[in-house]
Amino acid sequence: MLSRAENDLVTQTGPGTRCGALMRRYWQPAALAEELDPRRPVKALRLLGEDLVLFRGGRGLGLIGRHCAHRGTDLAFGRLENEGLRCCYHGWLYDATGQCLEQPAEPAGSSFHRKVRLAGYPCVERNGIVFAYMGAGPPPPFPEFDCFAAPDAYTFAYKGHIDCNWLQLLEGGIDPCHVSFLHRFFEDGDPTENYGRQFRDQMSDGAGPLTRILRDFDCPTIDTEETEYGLRIFALRAMGAKTHVRVTNLVFPNLIVIPLSDDMIISQWHVPIDDGRSWWYDIFSSYSRPMDKAAMRAQRTPLIAPPDYVPTKNRGNSYGYDPDEQRTRTYTGMGEDINVHDAWAVESAGPIQDRTTEHLGASDKAIIANRRLLIRAIGALESGATPPALGPALQRLRGPVSVDMVGTSAGWRDEWRGHDERRRARSPWAAALQPV
Ligand code: FES
Ligand SMILES: [Fe+2]
Repeated sequence: MLSRAENDLVTQTGPGTRCGALMRRYWQPAALAEELDPRRPVKALRLLGEDLVLFRGGRGLGLIGRHCAHRGTDLAFGRLENEGLRCCYHGWLYDATGQCLEQPAEPAGSSFHRKVRLAGYPCVERNGIVFAYMGAGPPPPFPEFDCFAAPDAYTFAYKGHIDCNWLQLLEGGIDPCHVSFLHRFFEDGDPTENYGRQFRDQMSDGAGPLTRILRDFDCPTIDTEETEYGLRIFALRAMGAKTHVRVTNLVFPNLIVIPLSDDMIISQWHVPIDDGRSWWYDIFSSYSRPMDKAAMRAQRTPLIAPPDYVPTKNRGNSYGYDPDEQRTRTYTGMGEDINVHDAWAVESAGPIQDRTTEHLGASDKAIIANRRLLIRAIGALESGATPPALGPALQRLRGPVSVDMVGTSAGWRDEWRGHDERRRARSPWAAALQPV
């Protein structure tokens, strides 16, 4: 449980907020690269409560304030030129840093334009996502996590819209207990190709389908470990002499890195649009083989359609809830797509969950650890200290390791790293990387 002031502190991310100042110190996803239509690569977006326009001009990517500094007209309809974006109302031209370059209706020789600057944020495009740095001072080096170390061909990026606060969404991602309930299937077969598939695949250790392990062992022990990047989270399901071990990560402040299968991981950011709406951005990364991006996209677009990336099953249609299905096939009655389950779980707590009335238990250990870390990091930044996953730690950061495996109950603490090392040794791109 948090106090009202603490809940406000960790959920408010707009300009001038304390948590917003912290989140702005990290590279944040601003758009999928596919959202910049090559015919006219200009995209209006809202990020951390700021209205912005992203464009790719002759001098590269720019992310600048959306409203013209002259009289507030919308630059998302501006004229894209080699130097930048020109407002259609009176022709003011802005470069990728937000600096005004020209004011053609002002008298010849006027230097007024030099005094005019919009917000402007540096951008970098990596593996299908345009990232922006919206913080004070120069941006930190771009991280070298596995999802960025992987060549583009080994990755696939996508996004989805969620109607709630970023932290609520993130707290679903660092809650290894919910998968035994929310994503429970009463059968182990795989009737359709869908997001639920990963929980139905056979474990490589011959332990049977993951869906059965999660169903049969629904009271995991959660353990967390603070690291240079945030939190390493262990979910342990004791199965006699064996233990199912799931190692996931919270990479500070809003990225989770989790296993999808033996070969694949998902890196997922939870990004505030504003305080009541968020995006999740995923990069799927394969250690062993190039991704069939067209097939991945074709699988997702009927469920979460561009250009708005709002799930087709949503609050407006009760997430497809079917009481007969809930009685016979799935725990939620909302189909097999686990993204729908997750969206319902977090959105139904309201735009910003009231954490003053919740009751956290032992299964919420990672959520509690993360909130402590977050509140501490906000204070650290303000007192001049370096928060997690920045500074020298960021330079060392590789991986992090995320695995789903069955180990021995006596030895799993030593075995999970070996499981990852064997996977890396077979990888054409990850073999030389030393994960933290
Ligand atoms: S409002 Fe943009 S140039 Fe006048
Ligand atoms: Fe989930």
